Amino acid sequence: MNLEGKIVLVTGASSGIGQATALALSQAGAKVAVGARRADRLKLLAEDAPGEILTLDLDVTDQQSIQNAVAATVGHFGRLDALVNNAGIMLSGMILGADTTEWSRMVDTNLLGSMYAVHAALPHLLESKGTVVQVSSTSGRIASAAGAAYSATKFGITGFIESLRQEVTTQGVRVVVVEPGFVSTELAGHITDPAMQAMAKTMADSIRTLQPDDIAAAVVYALNQPDHVSVNELLIRPTDQLQ
Ligand SMILES: NC(=O)c1ccc[n+]([C@@H]2O[C@H](COP(=O)([O-])OP(=O)(O)OC[C@H]3O[C@@H](n4cnc5c(N)ncnc54)[C@H](OP(=O)(O)O)[C@@H]3O)[C@@H](O)[C@H]2O)c1
Repeated sequence: MNLEGKIVLVTGASSGIGQATALALSQAGAKVAVGARRADRLKLLAEDAPGEILTLDLDVTDQQSIQNAVAATVGHFGRLDALVNNAGIMLSGMILGADTTEWSRMVDTNLLGSMYAVHAALPHLLESKGTVVQVSSTSGRIASAAGAAYSATKFGITGFIESLRQEVTTQGVRVVVVEPGFVSTELAGHITDPAMQAMAKTMADSIRTLQPDDIAAAVVYALNQPDHVSVNELLIRPTDQLQ
């Protein structure tokens, strides 16, 4: 897909990987609809981007909000060529004594939110022979202690996305899973357990982490392939990261 003039919806574009991806797509010539809850951040992004940006109030835990975002994108631009399902949260912690409302929030955001977005976007992507890019994680490939619920959401979405691939690939819709390792973003800043926060910081300080632009470049690479090439999986770790 040549990204020039293509219409892409990026969820979770108010910071980190989503923001960098929206900017990279705009630089590559795409028209980008960006969704998240922090409208002020999206407005700044729209000012920075070289191309047309449509900002959308979006809470992916609310199915109606996702349907509205997809409808607004198609209403404004007339079509949808790609969905970048990126919105996510990581509330790390041990299973014993966990605040299970944090599990629910992760399932609602990372798993159900992505599933709802695919559900809403798919009719338009079938029409355009478009692409779904799903941001999963190394945690969707290898689970580790203190990451059980987060891993469950990322393993889960990888399964959902592989089913999607088998359902739509022969109809021309491409499906890509991107699995980053440690990227320097706001993600770990939302962890509520101080010990887990400290662990994340120690890790961040001890390795050369990835930057959001590194993942944005991978998304652009996958989307830029000719229509007969489907890059299905991109696992990208910092060189210094073991697991
Ligand atoms: N950073 C890493 O090391 C890493 C590694 C592997 C995978 N990932 C994945 O990469 C994705 C992006 O994370 P990031 O690292 O860039 O973190 P981030 O900077 O915290 O960005 C997360 C984005 O998700 C949005 N979001 C969260 N809840 C949302 C909701 N209910 N509705 C709509 N948007 C919501 C946030 O926007 P608002 O708060 O404004 O709504 C924000 O734009 C996530 O899926 C994460 O699991 C990250």
